[in-house]
Amino acid sequence: AAASDHQAETATISQGTVASNHSGYTGSGFVDYTNVTGSYVEFTVSADAAGGASLAFRYANGTGADRPMDISVGGRVVAPNVSFPPTANWTTWATKTINADLAAGGNKIRATATTPAGGPNLDKLTVDAAADAQAPTR
Ligand code: GCU
Repeated sequence: AAASDHQAETATISQGTVASNHSGYTGSGFVDYTNVTGSYVEFTVSADAAGGASLAFRYANGTGADRPMDISVGGRVVAPNVSFPPTANWTTWATKTINADLAAGGNKIRATATTPAGGPNLDKLTVDAAADAQAPTR
């Protein structure tokens, strides 16, 4: 399957707001995490088949400090305290990519802030299933 884009502003948001006050985002905006531990954005991503996938989070962090987040799939943390380092300013966007296993069907992929500063500004998640995880074509 081709890579699929999932906009943060249309995902499930807990302790965050949709914003558009810093340019360079895709879609109609981005999520501004509330500056608290535990704020999160949760995407529902459908996979054709079980297997590995890359999860690319597009974000901005205009502060001078890391904004780490736990990444969970289906309620299980698959990547703890993933670093979302500074990007120079709030209109400079970068991508942080991790690899994780997805289940066939729907997957709840959640990015949760692990410090009181909250998460970075989050634009979107791009999911690309590994070639060997794709359903065979014939
Ligand atoms: C600023 C910035 C926001 C950002 C916030 C933060 O207020 O304008 O976009 O989310 O800092 O520190 O999280």
